[in-house]
Amino acid sequence: MSVENPTVSEARLLSVLDTAVDGIIVMDDGGAMLVFNKACERLFGYTAAEVIGRNIKLLMPPEFATAHDGFIRRYVDTGERRIIGIGREVRGQHRDGTAFPIELSVGEAMTPDGRQFIGIVRDLRSRKAVENRLNQLQAQLVHMARVNAMDEMGAAIAHELNQPLTAVMLYLQAVTRKAKTIGLDDMMVEILGKAVREAERAGTIIQRMRQFVEKREPERQAVDIRRLIGDALELTLLGTQVIGIEVIRDEAPDLPMVEVDPVQIQQILVNLIRNAIEAIRHQERRWVRIGVHVDDHQLTVEVEDSGTGIPKELVRNIFKAFSTSKRTGLGLGLAISRSIAQNHGGDLVVDPGGGGHGARFILRLPLNLATTARSG
Ligand SMILES: Nc1ncnc2c1ncn2[C@@H]1O[C@H](COP(=O)(O)OP(=O)(O)OP(=O)(O)O)[C@@H](O)[C@H]1O
Ligand SMILES: [Mg+2]
Repeated sequence: MSVENPTVSEARLLSVLDTAVDGIIVMDDGGAMLVFNKACERLFGYTAAEVIGRNIKLLMPPEFATAHDGFIRRYVDTGERRIIGIGREVRGQHRDGTAFPIELSVGEAMTPDGRQFIGIVRDLRSRKAVENRLNQLQAQLVHMARVNAMDEMGAAIAHELNQPLTAVMLYLQAVTRKAKTIGLDDMMVEILGKAVREAERAGTIIQRMRQFVEKREPERQAVDIRRLIGDALELTLLGTQVIGIEVIRDEAPDLPMVEVDPVQIQQILVNLIRNAIEAIRHQERRWVRIGVHVDDHQLTVEVEDSGTGIPKELVRNIFKAFSTSKRTGLGLGLAISRSIAQNHGGDLVVDPGGGGHGARFILRLPLNLATTARSG
């Protein structure tokens, strides 16, 4: 710290100020700095010698600096207090140009040399960092609580809605049959047909939602993944109208058995293969590759296709329920699949492809049960 030509008592005062943890600045009523203690040197990156005599605006980001002369003038003219004796959070600017939050309190003193202002500056960065982290954690907590509530509510709603929906469907079907026998006009029959289909769709959503929220502990058996893949392929290929699909099975030799819930894993495979088939429907070359290998105590199953990849705007959300690009899709396949994989202590991730490449979904299942993180 320095001051121009200090007297002995001034020098003593200045050395005391240097021991303060907070930054201390004294300036005259024109904004010129007279005192700049050690804490300020650390905070702002200037030495006292560099700033003494210069305007305090040096330490402010431009948006504060331009207004500052006006603040002082208004205070001197009107005595109206905006900061003096109050203290507030403002922003300071380091020598390197970075702005940071500070708490500034300003006092004023009448001295033989005229009116002077004393500013005490406290660095708020660490407090801000803690506050931010706290906010983040709180948000996470709220989110988790909501997700849990959703799970329970989802299961309850699915259960409660299932019965009335089934009833609606049966009534509608009965009316449709009757309508045909009494020769109701075609438009009415068509509308009834639509109503039945919509009710069916609602029923399917609910059924799949139930599987999703049920989160039952997988019933594990040692199975050969190649058999599950074979079954899944048969199921999906039989049901599809897309023709001319080349299936490439790319299996490493000596694959171990894996302890999984076969029905659930098959469901994942069916979802992935069905998506792949839907993705290549309009492609000239239509192939689906299913690769299996062991990698770091995990069984890795990859499902890749010759499509154009995941639409960019969808990539972030494809594993979230109800995100779909398909007219009749529910957007549940991947959400359910990932939840099953994670319930098995594994995971489902995607390489979205694009730029001439199709999407590649990667299912990982732990091979060593003892180290499997079971979740709820
Ligand atoms: N292999 C793929 N290639 C390109 N896009 C894909 C692929 N697999 C999934 N997607 C995209 O991800 C979205 C979500 O897939 P998801 O299986 O969760 O739902 P869906 O297929 O739309 O409906 P459903 O619930 O009937 O499966 C799809 O709508 C599609 O846009
Ligand atoms: Mg799907």
